[in-house]
Amino acid sequence: MVEPIRRSTREERERWLKEAHYNLFMLRADQVYIDLLTDSGTGAMSDRQWSALMMGDESYAGARSFFRLKDTVERLTGFEYFIPTHQGRAAENVLFSHLVKEGDYVPGNSHFDTTKGHIESRKAHAVDCTVDEALDTQLEVPFKGNVDIAKLEKVLEEHNDRVPFIIVTVTNNTAGGQPVSLENLRQVRRVGDKWGKRVILDSARFAENAYFIKTREEGQGDRTIREIVREMFDLADGMTMSAKKDGIVNMGGFIATRHEDWYEGAKRFCIPFEGYLTYGGMNGRDMEALAVGLEENTEYDNLHTRIHQVEYLAGLLDDFGIPYQRPAGGHAIFVDATRVLTHVPREEFPAQTLAAQLYLEGGIRGCEIGYLLADRDPVTRENRFYGLDLLRLAIPRRVYTDNHMNVIAVALKNLFDRRESITRGLRIVWEAELLRHFTVQLAPAVD
Ligand code: F0G
Repeated sequence: MVEPIRRSTREERERWLKEAHYNLFMLRADQVYIDLLTDSGTGAMSDRQWSALMMGDESYAGARSFFRLKDTVERLTGFEYFIPTHQGRAAENVLFSHLVKEGDYVPGNSHFDTTKGHIESRKAHAVDCTVDEALDTQLEVPFKGNVDIAKLEKVLEEHNDRVPFIIVTVTNNTAGGQPVSLENLRQVRRVGDKWGKRVILDSARFAENAYFIKTREEGQGDRTIREIVREMFDLADGMTMSAKKDGIVNMGGFIATRHEDWYEGAKRFCIPFEGYLTYGGMNGRDMEALAVGLEENTEYDNLHTRIHQVEYLAGLLDDFGIPYQRPAGGHAIFVDATRVLTHVPREEFPAQTLAAQLYLEGGIRGCEIGYLLADRDPVTRENRFYGLDLLRLAIPRRVYTDNHMNVIAVALKNLFDRRESITRGLRIVWEAELLRHFTVQLAPAVD
């Protein structure tokens, strides 16, 4: 599928950005030339997926398409119990409604913002146990998404009876699309077994994670992606899935688990929140397309082509000396904004400032994964400035060509060349209490 594109002038973009309150989510898609806001739901479906759509069974209950998807998920993951949901955060909502209680502690590796939101909105704590290496963007280590086992142990020592489960996000989106090694998943499993805790994989990009295990982890090179995927899930008890990423569909998600009690618990929330158990927020036709997408995206060649394109963009940034979270992640390049806009104070949101500047420069829309996204501390209401402040350039699957990557890199270079002249950033005019980055309204720190 292709769509016509329209180029805009800098004057137009200045006006549109101001109208959007310097929040790129509020732009119209037509005002964007190359859209790197997210890789979620923005992939291009294949010929086989489009033809599978025609086979959708839209029966309210017991649809053939449900069983086809359930069988595919079980074959890939070994999880017998399956609940479709309309997207990943809905899977979190349904499962966490059963599992997370006020005062709980949920350790994990850089919980995604909706995951954190679903924990904190239940007055529980999302405890980040990501390895410290992830905080140094220039450090070249293969599995920066890993869980720090000592940090995880500490949470369990202090709060054992308040820990409902451990959650591992593969790949670790917030830390830069960085993978988690099989060895790390084994260690997490051992800790879980020791303390009697179950492990959930937040699996939005599980196939990309398996690709990195195959290509970066010792002894894994000869295995197929599906063998690695199966071992990853064998080490877990259940999964939440945003199918909009590695499922390559525009909408969809699910919960899958090997435990009947989790399934029974989650079922009670699926029906009122999502829908009856055999569609849970998805059309039959979308379940068909997802079943095909999961098969296609657990093939090495497909993953290789995709991740190679992200690496190609990284190579161009290397040529220009532009700092990003190294090594390149699976779905995106994360430019280290605090190393680019060194004069913009953190209170003025360097990564969001860089996102706004890149849009003005080339009509390219990226996404801040930084201080805005981090929200305020729920207790102190202070901004959380202790993580990374990154500009994510997410690459949709099977959509853009390498020439688009060239345009993106050159636009960034233009910006990088005049970085010294950018000294002021943005200030918040209005913000929501939770998940503020979607709707925040900003203005230049100085008018
Ligand atoms: N988990 C991870 C790791 C994610 O990256 C996302 C979504 C979700 C859960 C929630 O899934 O959007 O289907 O409800 N990430 C998107 C992104 C929005 O742009 O990274 P969802």
